[in-house]
Amino acid sequence: MEPKARVVFPLSFMLFITHWFQLAHHGSAAESCTYIVHMDRSLFPSVFSTHHDWFESTVQSTKSATLGHSFMESQTQIVYSYNHAMYGFGAVLTSEELEGIKNSRGFVAAYPDRNVTIDTTHTFEFLSLASSSGLWHASNLGEDVIVGVIDTGVWPESESFRDDGMTKKIPSKWKGTCQEAQDFNTSMCNFKLIGATYFNKGVIAANSTVRISMNSARDTDGHGTHTSSTVGGNYVSGASYFGYAKGVARGIAPRARLAMYKVIWEEGRYASDVLAGMDQAIADGVDVISISMGFDGVPLYEDPIAIASFAAMEKGVVVSSSAGNGGPHLGTLHNGIPWLLTVAAGTIDRTFGSLILGNGQTIIGSTVFPANALVENLPLVYHKNISACNSVKMLSKLKTEVIIVCDLVPDTKLMYKQMSVVYEARLSGAVFFLNGPMLNDSGIGTFPSITISAKEQTFVGMKPAPAVAVYSSRGPSPSYPWVLKPDIMAPGSNVLAAYTPHTQQLQLATMCAAHPEWSAAAIRSALVTTASPLDNTQNPIRDYGYPSQYASPLAMGAGQIDPNKALDPGLIYDATPQDYVDLLCALNYTMKQILVITRSGSYNCAKPSFDLNYPSFIAIYSNKTMSVVQKFRRTVTNVGVGGGTYRAKVTEPKGSVVTVSPETLSFRYKNEKLSYSVVIKYRKHKKEEISYGDVIWMEDGGAHSVRSPIVVAPSGIV
Ligand SMILES: *[C@@H]1O[C@H](CO)[C@@H](O)[C@H](O)[C@H]1NC(C)=O
Ligand SMILES: *[C@@H]1O[C@H](CO)[C@@H](O)[C@H](O)[C@H]1NC(C)=O
Ligand SMILES: *[C@@H]1O[C@H](CO)[C@@H](O)[C@H](O)[C@H]1NC(C)=O
Ligand SMILES: *[C@@H]1O[C@H](CO)[C@@H](O)[C@H](O)[C@H]1NC(C)=O
Ligand SMILES: *[C@@H]1O[C@H](CO)[C@@H](O)[C@H](O)[C@H]1NC(C)=O
Ligand SMILES: *[C@@H]1O[C@H](CO)[C@@H](O)[C@H](O)[C@H]1NC(C)=O
Ligand SMILES: *[C@@H]1O[C@H](CO)[C@@H](O)[C@H](O)[C@H]1NC(C)=O
Repeated sequence: MEPKARVVFPLSFMLFITHWFQLAHHGSAAESCTYIVHMDRSLFPSVFSTHHDWFESTVQSTKSATLGHSFMESQTQIVYSYNHAMYGFGAVLTSEELEGIKNSRGFVAAYPDRNVTIDTTHTFEFLSLASSSGLWHASNLGEDVIVGVIDTGVWPESESFRDDGMTKKIPSKWKGTCQEAQDFNTSMCNFKLIGATYFNKGVIAANSTVRISMNSARDTDGHGTHTSSTVGGNYVSGASYFGYAKGVARGIAPRARLAMYKVIWEEGRYASDVLAGMDQAIADGVDVISISMGFDGVPLYEDPIAIASFAAMEKGVVVSSSAGNGGPHLGTLHNGIPWLLTVAAGTIDRTFGSLILGNGQTIIGSTVFPANALVENLPLVYHKNISACNSVKMLSKLKTEVIIVCDLVPDTKLMYKQMSVVYEARLSGAVFFLNGPMLNDSGIGTFPSITISAKEQTFVGMKPAPAVAVYSSRGPSPSYPWVLKPDIMAPGSNVLAAYTPHTQQLQLATMCAAHPEWSAAAIRSALVTTASPLDNTQNPIRDYGYPSQYASPLAMGAGQIDPNKALDPGLIYDATPQDYVDLLCALNYTMKQILVITRSGSYNCAKPSFDLNYPSFIAIYSNKTMSVVQKFRRTVTNVGVGGGTYRAKVTEPKGSVVTVSPETLSFRYKNEKLSYSVVIKYRKHKKEEISYGDVIWMEDGGAHSVRSPIVVAPSGIV
């Protein structure tokens, strides 16, 4: 819209001159920034043919109404129109223009564009190459499932995205595209990678002089290529990780179709771009959205992922998100959103590896390399200056075909420094000595090494795996503490090399294929109630953030995901979109705040309730009275074959009495729903202690056990 409408009025022209004078006088232009503006769809004026036209007109009219600089920057400042993940637009506005928008018809809410925190993991983690469990092998499950990955882009030439063995029939619901751009053309998509698009108008709006170094869906970071290949990478035989692990690499659902939405750029990462990617993914018809990033410290009605995933949930799209890398402190989690799946990061076995000396002596240590990686017949080398592992220059003088032995260091930080030096010097392998516990799992896994830790010898032989990663963010969710978050922990177990927090998506893909009739809540319930709180030594999963402790559900949710069991959970806890709205009502959100999330007036606040039909329980006691009596009501749906009788088995958290009523649920037929209540009474135990337990519904005959974790926590941690 060129200045047509604007030159007309002498008054505004005069104001413009005056204003311009003032600006010139003060030597700075009014600050503009990008705002995300939510509008009320029900007030869409029928004179406009598209939503975009309405939004544009709204922006234009405030620009002409406010003082003149819009006259100078005459081009439209709409950055994006959103119609699926939210309803509204992103626009570059001055604060005055924003005030004008706020007075426009249909305005609901606005907030500045903000940075998203990407959950880059610190390390490559190894998942064992153990032969795959029947499920993944047997089937083409997942062929009809489309996983949309919101990330840094994709490297389409990676073998994981070849489409060998994929049927040539892309599901007809797919409406997406493969976008031609820099170093990317349509022949890079195929029957595996079916879509690739990119969104960077938010980056450009924030900095008009920015030069985008890779202006396409191509990944220059690596994060997106790893997440998407972990989710749905095809079989790659003879794959090897830096040449050491041999085997077949593949994603968890090797038959799922993938679509990449690149929203994270070297030049910036903005909510407006993330929203645009999610908007497009929903419009394109994906079944699962995988997103490993989040917004910290925002309420649900200003959290783009919360807003976009509500729309996804209404359409039955499962959104799986990472809990964040803010651990190990409590309350650091993001994406603790009641209507999505929040996944904690577990470490896979920090494999306990061995160093076998020429004389046959074996020394056990830990390594991020896989069990079957083998570096052999190389000389062990001590540098005559034992501190050489701190100097690339010194190590570079050695032959590269050696295993260097490094000096004892007091903590992991110094050890990681040594690791990066050895890596840079390109030596074949290294032995590190740590005079303390191996607290940090953020090591560099880019070359074979073994760490011998004085404090960790006690673990050896037990080989406990998995464990909660130090960096994984912990609940409770600052934006909504009344549901227990995270939901589950996902290290996965069938991938050659992957970043850990991203391995959950494939299981989802397979579940979607197996149970297309299930809602997103039902799928989440199945994953939660079948997750395992035990590690491979049958002891409770440990927390590497607090190595002397077992992991609480605030660190790992219900425990490690067990995808095979999740296909047949016995009972599920379902929830409808209105159920989630009931909790927004209980939060005393205004109708406008609720409308931001729901985009529709078709919900009501007749029954506000914090008590969502969730597959877990959290009771919060005030730190004044040190007590709480909290009642929960739950409804379970029998999804087993035929009927079945379930009996409640309770493990009470310390200091609590837990009553389940009734204690027996007898289902006569499939899909029957029965309700029960849980009352948690906590009385002062120890100050500020977090305690936990569980309720397990055990089926007579043992076919199913349906477990829900319980947490009792002081309000101080919220
Ligand atoms: C796409 O790019 C590749 C590699 O640059 C090239 O071989 C291919 O011919 C291109 N395809 C099209 C349709 O332009
Ligand atoms: C904007 O982009 C230019 C070019 O890439 C860069 O030099 C400058 O630092 C950026 N400005 C900001 C505020 O990020
Ligand atoms: C967002 O990130 C940019 C750098 O990418 C930084 O300059 C800016 O201050 C950040 N903004 C906020 C609100 O954190
Ligand atoms: C040993 O190496 C360190 C650097 O890692 C250096 O600072 C020190 O001077 C060296 N010592 C000798 C005796 O060369
Ligand atoms: C783990 O390593 C990271 C990166 O080196 C460091 O910032 C962090 O403080 C470490 N955490 C612990 C518990 O050592
Ligand atoms: C909501 O408002 C009610 C009534 O004013 C109040 O009792 C309740 O504590 C409020 N809830 C929250 C979460 O603020
Ligand atoms: C207990 O609650 C009060 C106010 O509710 C707060 O100021 C105080 O810090 C809390 N104490 C602890 C230990 O969290």
